[in-house]
Amino acid sequence: MTTVIDGKAVAADVVSKVRAAAEKLTADTGVVPGIAVVIVGEDPASKVYVASKGKKARECGFHSVEHKLPAETRQADLVALIEKLNADPAIHGILVQLPLPDHIDAGRIIQTISPDKDVDGFHFINVGKLGTGELDTAFVPCTPAGSMLLIERVLGRDLSGLNAVVVGRSNIVGKPMANLLLAANATVTVAHSRTKNLPDVCRAADIVVAAVGRPEMIKGDWIKPGATVIDVGINRLEAGADGKSKLVGDVDYAGASERAGAITPVPGGVGPMTIALLMANTMTSAYRAAD
Ligand code: GUN
Repeated sequence: MTTVIDGKAVAADVVSKVRAAAEKLTADTGVVPGIAVVIVGEDPASKVYVASKGKKARECGFHSVEHKLPAETRQADLVALIEKLNADPAIHGILVQLPLPDHIDAGRIIQTISPDKDVDGFHFINVGKLGTGELDTAFVPCTPAGSMLLIERVLGRDLSGLNAVVVGRSNIVGKPMANLLLAANATVTVAHSRTKNLPDVCRAADIVVAAVGRPEMIKGDWIKPGATVIDVGINRLEAGADGKSKLVGDVDYAGASERAGAITPVPGGVGPMTIALLMANTMTSAYRAAD
């Protein structure tokens, strides 16, 4: 029997600890953790994510501001806004929702965010700290950090002797995930679209992290019996005969859950962890600022 990893419950646990810590910080120092979320344009999925980030921040007792800018915003104006937020002592975390419109250089924007307020963990300084194992002072990207917490619940903190396969090599998930698994002593393989014989690569894994953005690509018979399967994918399928669209992950859940020792569902697995870790990073930033 597989264990279904309840990301919603673990995320609620993280959020309640963040709220308690925020209350303590405010009572002890008067500092209220503050987060600014910036969205440019009208991408519907981004708008949903940004609204839920604001709601969760308020739930944690944070000061939360949203900057909604039109799609035609000039890069220089976005840079000026970020510089203003960098200098604002009431703001401890800055998140610029990706993707940005094509005329804006997203890399340049990310590097404009102060590394001390980069709660996404995308700035070179934070990427470098994660890569060199400076985990105490880094901001770690929220989705991989949340995925690690779920793995920890199943396997503990030390993954010595375990083979982990990360499918996907994005800067947001795949690469930071591989670094976190390495820091936990796993033996790590990063697979991607050019990898030969992906099914066999996955079959050697005690831990599979799927972050490719292709619905149900990873099949049940690619999973080693007893493996831990973390599905980062959130793919909306076209409406079927019943007229309802459906969310699925990057893993064929029905097939994989027959073999996995533990598996995250979609929705309700990794998804809620991402926002919970964003709150945790913002709280950490506020503590550092108050120090
Ligand atoms: N778009 C999709 N995922 C993310 C994320 O983790 N952070 C930001 N800023 N944008 C995203």
